[in-house]
Amino acid sequence: MHIQTGREATRASTDMLLGEVAQAEELLADARSRVAPGPRPLPGEDAHTEAELLARFEAIIAADGKIEPRDWVPERYRASLVRQIAQHAHSEIVGMQPETNWLTRAPSLRRKAILLAKVQDEAGHGLYLYGVAETLGADREELLDALHQGRQKYLSFINYPTLTWADVGALAWLTDGAAVVNQVPLCRSSYGPYARAMVRVCKEESFHHRQGFDLLWTLTHGSPEQQRMAQDAVNRWWDPALAMFGPPHQRSTHSAKSMEWRIKRFTNDELRQRFVDICVPQAEALGVTLPDSALAWNTDRGHYDFSPPDWDELARVVAGDGPCNRQRVAHRRKAHEDGAWVREAAMAHARKHSDRAAAAPAANATASAASAASATAVA
Ligand SMILES: [Fe+2]
Ligand SMILES: [Fe+2]
Repeated sequence: MHIQTGREATRASTDMLLGEVAQAEELLADARSRVAPGPRPLPGEDAHTEAELLARFEAIIAADGKIEPRDWVPERYRASLVRQIAQHAHSEIVGMQPETNWLTRAPSLRRKAILLAKVQDEAGHGLYLYGVAETLGADREELLDALHQGRQKYLSFINYPTLTWADVGALAWLTDGAAVVNQVPLCRSSYGPYARAMVRVCKEESFHHRQGFDLLWTLTHGSPEQQRMAQDAVNRWWDPALAMFGPPHQRSTHSAKSMEWRIKRFTNDELRQRFVDICVPQAEALGVTLPDSALAWNTDRGHYDFSPPDWDELARVVAGDGPCNRQRVAHRRKAHEDGAWVREAAMAHARKHSDRAAAAPAANATASAASAASATAVA
């Protein structure tokens, strides 16, 4: 090994990523105390020209400040963020499906409890993210509709099946691991609500990643059959995990603008390389082989060389022709329809509370007038 070996390297890379999340959290607190430069329009005020507002927006970005929901933003920035956040939110909720497949088949109560907690976390991530999209004026029902009609996408790896229990481990180790690498820089995203949501999401994703590693560790230190099962799962999930970082930078439609606006901080290729560099020592610690004969340390670059994923296959899966695309979307639609009564009941409950709260001041005023009158009578 070139830097460290085994589990130490694995722990070091997790600590490094969580350290970056902690730094981003400090920067966020610091950004909140700084006053953003230039005019900020008050509600209903249109005293500032678009040029002035744009100059202020650009000054915040240049100063590495945070854009907040009350700030004016160019329409392209808003639309680009809504697209990215919606895709992220959809991936969280549809991404629960490959794992829920194994909730009833977990081999022990402990593993079942861990998996249940993870799946619930993913639902929570979806909630934060739809909430963030709403701060940009997006309508949650419209976003879900776009998902159900296939007009908005979710991450392609979700369209692959989880064939064995080892897939639960490989899926979490590789795809939640890739999610952490992808999302740690988003904790420094220029849009404040997104950056703050990512801090919490990254901490939870890091737990998902580690439980996947732990599950695989148990299998690779088990019977020969368990070892074969772990290797087979890693073989199938490696390419979908690499593809999670998206197409190469030159072919990525949105990357350049996202980087200019500091929504993204690194190119797809830089993040993919970082992921590979982190995974290789972890694979060595686990005792599994990554399915790439080109994988080798490159002393000149100070990184591992590796083969890219099959871009044609990625394009096919994104276009809707992966092994489980139809099943995933059909299941999501059905879950949404089956849950209609829960949403209606929650809305009715919220309405009842707000009606009571609105009626309370009037009732209180009547009660205090009555008690003042009786106090006067006693006096
Ligand atoms: Fe998640
Ligand atoms: Fe996760």
